[in-house]
Amino acid sequence: MKIRVINGPNLNMLGIREPEIYGRETYADLTSFILRGAAELGVQAEVFQSNHEGVLVEYIQQALGKADAIVINPAAYTHTSVAILDALKAVGLPAVEVHLSDVQAREEFRRVSYSSRACVAVVAGLGFEGYKKAMEILL
Ligand code: DQA
Repeated sequence: MKIRVINGPNLNMLGIREPEIYGRETYADLTSFILRGAAELGVQAEVFQSNHEGVLVEYIQQALGKADAIVINPAAYTHTSVAILDALKAVGLPAVEVHLSDVQAREEFRRVSYSSRACVAVVAGLGFEGYKKAMEILL
């Protein structure tokens, strides 16, 4: 199974950004964690990050024919992007949405998720572990 693991804006700042919420581990640590978890599960993961909505849309579109499933943390675009929702719907691949933090327990605007409407599950509040859990769900 091939999984595209897609990360949205500011996740490249992990380790620096709001460590009280997101922890002190870096984006490189997250990438290693995901690749290690994928190897343990026997899946092939391709990990990608962008701060740009259109780039994320194109990466989702290009998953068609190249991947079997998607794990996505759209970060702030979760709460705003109909374009990312439409891209997920367009490719129709099984997708799981992940958030490091417990978005339901934070500000009200974070409780709204457009992208989750195209996802089979949402995993939030488990930190890095959430990405492994998402891959397990897809398996
Ligand atoms: C996040 C939660 C979002 O609300 C926020 O904008 C992020 C990260 C998370 O992983 O907890 O950038 O997706």
